[in-house]
Amino acid sequence: MTARFVLLAVVSSDGFIARYPGHPPWEWASPEEQARFRATMDLVTWSVLGRITHETAPRPERKRIVFTGAVKSIAWLTPNHLAFNPAGATFDEALEIARPEGLVAVLGGTRVHDYMLGIGRVDELRLSIEPVRFGEGLGMFTGVAWLGLDDHLARHGMARAGEDEKFNDLGTVERRYRKIAANALRHAR
Ligand SMILES: NC(=O)c1ccc[n+]([C@@H]2O[C@H](COP(=O)([O-])OP(=O)(O)OC[C@H]3O[C@@H](n4cnc5c(N)ncnc54)[C@H](OP(=O)(O)O)[C@@H]3O)[C@@H](O)[C@H]2O)c1
Repeated sequence: MTARFVLLAVVSSDGFIARYPGHPPWEWASPEEQARFRATMDLVTWSVLGRITHETAPRPERKRIVFTGAVKSIAWLTPNHLAFNPAGATFDEALEIARPEGLVAVLGGTRVHDYMLGIGRVDELRLSIEPVRFGEGLGMFTGVAWLGLDDHLARHGMARAGEDEKFNDLGTVERRYRKIAANALRHAR
């Protein structure tokens, strides 16, 4: 099984993915960011997401692993949607059933980001940053302030890759992080 896990997220300039649960990115992200998101999603074979994000953007035709406490361990909700409860099964067990190949999108929200980063299943993070301040809302990771993001990712073996890419003249950019090779990580410590 060869799958590459890419976490795709758009944040406000102060690091929030939404103002409240159920607040979708298409209500506030720029058209350029949304166009890039759709183009990437066209290449994606499976998505990994929480139940609220799943229900906020229902896509019966898309293959999804949906985190939820509503099932004991792993169960098909529909022919394309596999429900997964980390309290009753491992993510590898879910992968054995879903058998994704190619590009897999990790779509959040917060606890899904926590879990996937925690088990080392984020190979790359593509983070769009929009020039809008929320002040409060849902963070990228539980208990991680925006200014602490790079350190948090570094603790999980990830570092910035290249320069920010400008999406438009308003100031939307995409920042990428990748897993650092284990030997590079040893030298960095
Ligand atoms: N800006 C972005 O890039 C971005 C990305 C993703 C989401 N969003 C937005 O963020 C909001 C949703 O995010 P969210 O963090 O509130 O919710 P979420 O992660 O989408 O869904 C939360 C639900 O997922 C299940 N879940 C998540 N982690 C679990 C775990 N470890 N074990 C068991 N169940 C787990 C639970 O479902 P049950 O309640 O069924 O048990 C939980 O209530 C939406 O507005 C969405 O549009 C934005």
